[in-house]
Amino acid sequence: KTAAAIFDLDGVIVDTAKYHYLAWKRLAAELGFDFSEADNERLKGVSRMRSLEILLEIGGVTATEQEKTVMAAKKNDWYLQYIQKITPAELLPGVVPFLEDLRARGIKVALASASKNARVILSRLEIEPYFDAIVDGNRVAKAKPDPEIFLTAAADLGVVPAHCVVFEDAAAGVEAGKKAGMFVVGIGDRRNLPEADLVLPGFPGFDYEALQAAIGADPE
Ligand code: BG6
Ligand code: MG
Repeated sequence: KTAAAIFDLDGVIVDTAKYHYLAWKRLAAELGFDFSEADNERLKGVSRMRSLEILLEIGGVTATEQEKTVMAAKKNDWYLQYIQKITPAELLPGVVPFLEDLRARGIKVALASASKNARVILSRLEIEPYFDAIVDGNRVAKAKPDPEIFLTAAADLGVVPAHCVVFEDAAAGVEAGKKAGMFVVGIGDRRNLPEADLVLPGFPGFDYEALQAAIGADPE
């Protein structure tokens, strides 16, 4: 039986991919190459530094570690400017009703995000009070698909992994959740998330009961 729900942030609770994209595109432009929205797909769920490396590879640009640190900081400054303007209106549909339902059922809720900016975003969205634990990119050593972030969230909540459900939009996150021994709900398109136990296009119409029905029907 589910005792805890662990949420990814970017792409699950809010669509911040567009802001990451704008900031990376600006950096690419400064470096003299174009960065497409299709290429941006490769950065979803990936850490800041790894994202930069993929971007530089796309542009055929080589840089020293020191230059990379400067570039990543610059991108983050732009990103922070964009997310300063986020409002609760940008919460993805159905997220708050689902969080309310979980709380009413006594299910513990955690955030497990690779982002070092997760707390700023939660605060802008005014949903911090829904979370019993927050594990962000400042707290973990190993990035998704390593299960560390989800195992840390479960430990914070005091719930065994087998009783946790993960909500993820990125393939690396789904993999991390499975490695942690959790039931994983993919948010998005089944084709991009083949390893998920269940895939939803989004939260509208979904609730705790539907989740229990899906887990009950799971052969594992
Ligand atoms: C993930 C995003 O949640 O966080 C990635 O999907 C992003 O696109 C990563 O690179 C790290 O975020 P930040 O805010 O620490 O640069
Ligand atoms: Mg995500």
